[in-house]
Amino acid sequence: MAKIIGGIGSSHIPAIGVAIARKLQETPYWKSFFDGFPPIHDWLDKQQPDAAIVFYNDHGLEFFLDKKPTFAIGAAAEYISYDEGWGIDTIPPVIGDEDMSWHICNELVDDEFDITICQELGIDHGLTVPMQLMWPGNNYGHIKVIPVVINCEQHPMPSPKRCFDLGRAIGRAVDSYKKDLKVVVLGTGGLSHQLDGARAGHINKKFDIMCMDKIVNKPEDLLNYSIRDLTEIAGAQGVELNMWLGMRGALTGQVTELHRNYHIPISNTGAGTMLLDNSG
Ligand code: DHB
Ligand code: FE
Repeated sequence: MAKIIGGIGSSHIPAIGVAIARKLQETPYWKSFFDGFPPIHDWLDKQQPDAAIVFYNDHGLEFFLDKKPTFAIGAAAEYISYDEGWGIDTIPPVIGDEDMSWHICNELVDDEFDITICQELGIDHGLTVPMQLMWPGNNYGHIKVIPVVINCEQHPMPSPKRCFDLGRAIGRAVDSYKKDLKVVVLGTGGLSHQLDGARAGHINKKFDIMCMDKIVNKPEDLLNYSIRDLTEIAGAQGVELNMWLGMRGALTGQVTELHRNYHIPISNTGAGTMLLDNSG
C-alpha cells in the first residue's frame, strides 16, 4: 500500500533558482534561507521516499489567464521545465508516475473534485525551484512526481477550506493505491507577499508565524479565511498559503513538526520552510 510519510512547506521564489545557479547559498543575503534545508535533506535521505505529490500554482507558463483550471493534475510520464523568464535556468525533466496519477484522478472525480487531467504539463518555478531545494544538484531522478496545480492567479480562486479538502481527498486516494510506495507531499509558495499594486512588498510576519504554528496540529483554524481575507492580511500572492493547506490536508493521524525556518525578506516574501513528519 502507498503511504504518506510527511509534508514539506517551502518557498518557490524564482530568485532562489538564480541563487542556486550562481552558487550564492553562502552569501549574506541567502545564507539564513538556505541554512533551513539541511535538516530536510537529512530526513529525505533517511526516509527515501519513492514519490512526491507537489501542490503548487502555475504562474502563467502552462495556464495563462485565458484558460485557468481551478485544480489540475499531471498524468504524464515526465514533465518539462520551460524557460519562463525571471532569469532562471530550466531543470532536467521531472519523472512522473502515470499509473498513480490516474488512480488519484479517478478517485478525485468519484470524490466530487472536477480536476483538469494533464497528459502534458510544462512546469514552472512553483514546482522546479522546490525540486532543486529538496534534491540539490537536481538529484531527483529517483523520485516520481505528481504535480497538483491550484489556481491562485485569477479570481475566482478556491478557498482555503476547499484546498485543504482537496488535500484530504488526495490523501485518501494515496491510501487506496495498491503499490508499496513511500510518498512525501510538498506545498510550495508563500508565505505572505504582494508583488504588485499599491501594497507591493507587503509582508505579515505575525500572520505567517501563526499559520506555521496552526498548520502543525490545528489546521482547521485556518480554514475559515476567505480569499479576500488572505489578500488583505497576507497580500495578493499570500493566497499561496493554499498550497501549504493542500499539503497539510493530505496528512492524517499523528503529525509532528521536525523543523522550520522563517526568513524575511527573500525577494518580496516572508519565506517559510517547514518539515512535518507523518511516518508514525
Ligand atoms: C516572487 C514570489 C512568488 O511567489 C513568485 O511566484 C514569483 C516571485 C518574489 O517574491 O519575487
Ligand atoms: Fe508564486
